[in-house]
Amino acid sequence: MFSKKIKKIINKKNNKKIICLTAYSKNIAEILDRHCDIVLVGDSLGSVLYNYDTTRNVSLKTMIEHSKSVKKGIKKSLMVVDMPYRTYKNPKEALKNAKYIISQTGCDAVKLEGGKKIIKIIKHLVKNKVQVMGHVGLLPQFEKGKFRFKGKTEIEKNKIFNDAKLLVSAGVFSIVLECTEKSLSKKITSSVKIPTIGIGASIDCDGQVLVTDDLLGLNFTNYRFVKKYANLAKIIDRAARNFKQDVIKKLFPKKKNSY
Ligand code: KIV
Repeated sequence: MFSKKIKKIINKKNNKKIICLTAYSKNIAEILDRHCDIVLVGDSLGSVLYNYDTTRNVSLKTMIEHSKSVKKGIKKSLMVVDMPYRTYKNPKEALKNAKYIISQTGCDAVKLEGGKKIIKIIKHLVKNKVQVMGHVGLLPQFEKGKFRFKGKTEIEKNKIFNDAKLLVSAGVFSIVLECTEKSLSKKITSSVKIPTIGIGASIDCDGQVLVTDDLLGLNFTNYRFVKKYANLAKIIDRAARNFKQDVIKKLFPKKKNSY
């Protein structure tokens, strides 16, 4: 049922941590590919690149264009593409769109947000040989109002736990846990045979994912669950300022930069 590449990811559970980062274009994907097990073309590109208020505005066409670019940078990682909002309303449409994403982009798998409500859809995809990554906890495509962590109450914890278990029985190969409370992340991770990939979901997950622009410090967001491993905003600022100064002072272009 699972492809060879996916079995390799699953085999990392209880063995090695799984590394996942987002990419929206070839150049970044090429660099990340050296370090990642999974490269995710996340629909977070809606807010990160297009400044949309919600990932709901991301279209299938936009996801496909960015994914085509990402694919060109990938040699070894598993490439997963988010199915945008309203592209998986029912089993038939979901299959049509998932197959379209895969045929157009050459990705290995698709990711869908949700639990119990989309189980029929996931079963239909898996039955038709589509490899699926699940996503529970905070679901950006379905959130109303301010984002907050999930698993505040026992009722909420139980619901998310049951959603995760249902996803496993529907045939997903891994599950993203987004902003789930620590003990819940731990409970899900130790109760399922497939890997959990956390974002804001504690160290107990089998792997971790971050939005690459956040990790690079390319924006001014300040989420608790993000660690900035670089300050690219500062580096770009300095480079642009130096370029400006050189042009004004006629230090660029030099003879060696001219024909
Ligand atoms: O859209 C995205 O980038 C994601 C990750 C944050 C998991 O779903």
